[in-house]
Amino acid sequence: MKGIVLAGGTATRLYPLTIVTNKHLLPIYDRPMIYYPIETLAGMGIREIMVIVGGKSVGDVVELLADGSAFGIDLTYRYQPGALGIAHAIGLARDFVGDEAFCCVLGDNILRGPALADIATAFEQGPYGAGTLLHRVPDPERFGVAELDADGRVIGFEEKPVQPKSDLIPIGVYFLRRDAFAVIDKLLPSLRGELEITDVLNHYIPGGRLFSPVYDGHWTDAGTVPSLLRAAELAAADDAAGKLAPPVSRSPG
Ligand code: G1P
Repeated sequence: MKGIVLAGGTATRLYPLTIVTNKHLLPIYDRPMIYYPIETLAGMGIREIMVIVGGKSVGDVVELLADGSAFGIDLTYRYQPGALGIAHAIGLARDFVGDEAFCCVLGDNILRGPALADIATAFEQGPYGAGTLLHRVPDPERFGVAELDADGRVIGFEEKPVQPKSDLIPIGVYFLRRDAFAVIDKLLPSLRGELEITDVLNHYIPGGRLFSPVYDGHWTDAGTVPSLLRAAELAAADDAAGKLAPPVSRSPG
């Protein structure tokens, strides 16, 4: 499987922190934010990762991560011109992905829990066209939100609904195959002017082709000031419990 990390966007919800820098470079406890999604993918055994960059400080993102060898992975980059949405950014990785299944993690998503290697394998070997991880949150209106039927099966996702139909959200971890690029090609921009990943996921619900296990570890995004603090608290708690490996580091070059 290949991996994609999305590190574009304008991050206006974090202003003034992100007026002159890229959100994904902000510190979360003892390391830059973008380390966490890279560690999430590396924890699945993924070694070839493309980082989609955009917005501010693109050169600094590349300087920080370089070729990935410090992390034991192989990194390449692609530039997203403008905040055109998650599905649009994934579409830029088409040639990189080739015929392999792949996992995309949003650059501001912090997962602290069991490694996802088994989940990645279950997707890859299963009959699914797409997958995501569901998680219960107290403020679902900030995210994509799942609608469930009486048996608890997902029957649809709505992006940032005013009246959420559940408190289960698809977190920013997506499992996809080459087939998804044809779906992305047909998407129309949402009211916020973006190609939405929830529209891609919705495509795979009929016929049971969506893989959507619940993730029971700790999760947060880090795209708002309160969630940025929460992300640091999760990492600090893991450190206190001896569950946070030291960050990859090297001399500035
Ligand atoms: C994005 C997705 C949303 C998902 C969330 C997870 O939201 O659009 O469906 O629940 O990431 O972090 P955004 O980052 O655009 O707020």
